[in-house]
Amino acid sequence: MAYQTLETIPLTPHIGAEVTGIDLSATLSGEQQQDIRQAFLDWKVLVFRNQELSPEQHKDFGRMFGPLHVHPLQHDYGGDPEILTVRTTAKSRYTAGDGWHTDVSCEAQPPMGSMLYMKEVPDCGGDTLFANMHRAYETLSEPMQAFLERRSAIHDGAIPYIGNYGIAPPGGQSYPRNEHPVITRHPESGEQVLFVNSGFTSHIVGMHRGESRALLDMLFTHIATTPSLTCRVRWEPGTLTFWDNRCTQHHAVWDYQPQTRHGERVSIIGQRPAA
Ligand code: SIN
Repeated sequence: MAYQTLETIPLTPHIGAEVTGIDLSATLSGEQQQDIRQAFLDWKVLVFRNQELSPEQHKDFGRMFGPLHVHPLQHDYGGDPEILTVRTTAKSRYTAGDGWHTDVSCEAQPPMGSMLYMKEVPDCGGDTLFANMHRAYETLSEPMQAFLERRSAIHDGAIPYIGNYGIAPPGGQSYPRNEHPVITRHPESGEQVLFVNSGFTSHIVGMHRGESRALLDMLFTHIATTPSLTCRVRWEPGTLTFWDNRCTQHHAVWDYQPQTRHGERVSIIGQRPAA
């Protein structure tokens, strides 16, 4: 794949590429923006190294793709509502994203993409795995694809935010809970995508509880045990990774305790997922 203003170095043949030749703190030309958009569609996960970004420059890059998302947990984190701090220390009881998920898929309009800018990394470890959900769909059998194409599932923010993190929503409120098709179509590429994730998806609508659990467990196992779906991003301070939540899942590996890892994430509001 050729671009006019940047070069890409693939991480794997089908997901993930490092991008060279772009300074995200500078004003990006129309051609550069077009190349980044195309590379994002081509590779699903883009890794920009050695970036020096202020929070405003980080947000400006996010706004190139749409309005910024305010995370439902911001009530607990404080700070700039459009920046989610991802910080894990020796004292942490959990770390954000330690399990396969798509960001905030409980929203009616989940983020189309997220940009994590890494500030502090452990001596080693703390990588993030990304998986290609178009490929996850394609590697299911045709009867399974056809069955899933007619189904929808509930995505519930209470599962991670209360169940895993133990953070209750502020007085009287509840976390977002929404129904999305199990197989969605990427609004730009047209690719079909497996859109259930172990972080947020509680059940498949219209099925008995045991049937739904067995089916979801099969799909989550498919994702977690198929390394050929994935790429792995190794972070350095100054790395910004931009991933497409409409067609990927990710898993932040917490293998570095008691060391610290710290980054800041900006997410961009997407469309309602469609079958
Ligand atoms: C997340 O956005 O889920 C966190 C990703 C990471 O920390 O690598």
